[in-house]
Amino acid sequence: MRISVLTERAEGEQRVALVPENVAKLVKAGATVVVQEGAGARAFHADAAYVAAGATIADSAAAAVAGADVVAKVQRPLADEMSLLPSGVTLICMLNAQSAGDQLQQLATQGVSTLALERVPRITRAQSMDVLSSQATIAGYKAVLMGAAALPRILPMMTPAAGSLTPGKAFVIGAGVAGLQAIATARRLGAIVTAFDVRPAAAEQVQSLGATFVKSDVVSAAAEDKGGYAKAQSQDEATRTLETIGNHIVTQDLVITTAAIPGRAAPRLITAEMVRKMKPGSVIVDLAAETGGNCELTKFGETVVENGVTIMGPRNLPATQPMHASQMFGRNVFTLLTHLTSKEGNTLVVDPADEITGAMLVTHAGQIRLS
Ligand code: NAI
Repeated sequence: MRISVLTERAEGEQRVALVPENVAKLVKAGATVVVQEGAGARAFHADAAYVAAGATIADSAAAAVAGADVVAKVQRPLADEMSLLPSGVTLICMLNAQSAGDQLQQLATQGVSTLALERVPRITRAQSMDVLSSQATIAGYKAVLMGAAALPRILPMMTPAAGSLTPGKAFVIGAGVAGLQAIATARRLGAIVTAFDVRPAAAEQVQSLGATFVKSDVVSAAAEDKGGYAKAQSQDEATRTLETIGNHIVTQDLVITTAAIPGRAAPRLITAEMVRKMKPGSVIVDLAAETGGNCELTKFGETVVENGVTIMGPRNLPATQPMHASQMFGRNVFTLLTHLTSKEGNTLVVDPADEITGAMLVTHAGQIRLS
């Protein structure tokens, strides 16, 4: 099996799909790995490290993908990269399939089997392949650092000779993967941390990290679907949620929002009116900016200031910590490749009937498979 790793060219993208540690294991298992020159450089993995792991370096994307069975990327290929993909190749990347538009048809027409990493099912068996979770871990951590850096005050309590400083208050909305990391990070920085989620199971996890769960009668088993995900709320539940958040937010310095419902726009949990009642100098970091934002005033990829409150809607935070983000991303891709490799020999098996492969496979055998 020949696996090729391409250099990311999307703006701001510094990650790489496989790191030398993964390459060494793949080569040991009998694969041939070709890495495009400089692919790992911005994640601090030099070409020499890939060579030491057993890869060969190709001086262009075209040379890297020639004869490949698998092409591994972080982001969706750019137009010129798409046209290089040979028929029969399996592409593994974060495709963002729902917004891939004409590219999906192009991939199908070119005979590419595409495994969209964002569609890994959140089942126990696939946990180690789940890039959304691994990358959200980084985003939750980084959101707190960004927010803390933008605050006019410090977060920890200090008692210097110049007089005591009280600890800052951080509030995390949505206690999933990113939210739990945000809670842990804000605690490490010395903030008094509270958190809110509609799923009752989140309360225990919040408390186990030393934060206080903000109570509300909308938190109930009925808020979850069978898979354990939050469901969209009714109008009445949404109003009561806004009330809970609105009452709490006025005393907070740093608010990190991460609330998400799979496949839907981000729930609106902070209105413009609520922002106007917040303390001037406070900061909101809205991780759900890409799907519309949890805060009404969020602008994706921008920072806006309203009534002295800074609202950040950061884009692609995992790419800002490329070393560890790539380490986890690479492990996810490596585990997926292992899952796709036949037990008998070193060949790739893309089986649409397999629970994990089938959920991720968006183009195969000339067809688009998007439900
Ligand atoms: P997740 O699904 O693990 O967590 C989302 C949480 O929101 C769940 O615990 C859910 O119960 C909760 N939630 C849903 N509706 C709610 C409501 N009305 N009130 C309170 N809580 C509610 O998702 P994950 O992986 O933690 O990602 C969170 C968000 O961060 C997503 O929007 C994701 O796209 C985004 N993200 C942004 C990044 C960036 O760089 N900007 C990078 C990675 C993730």
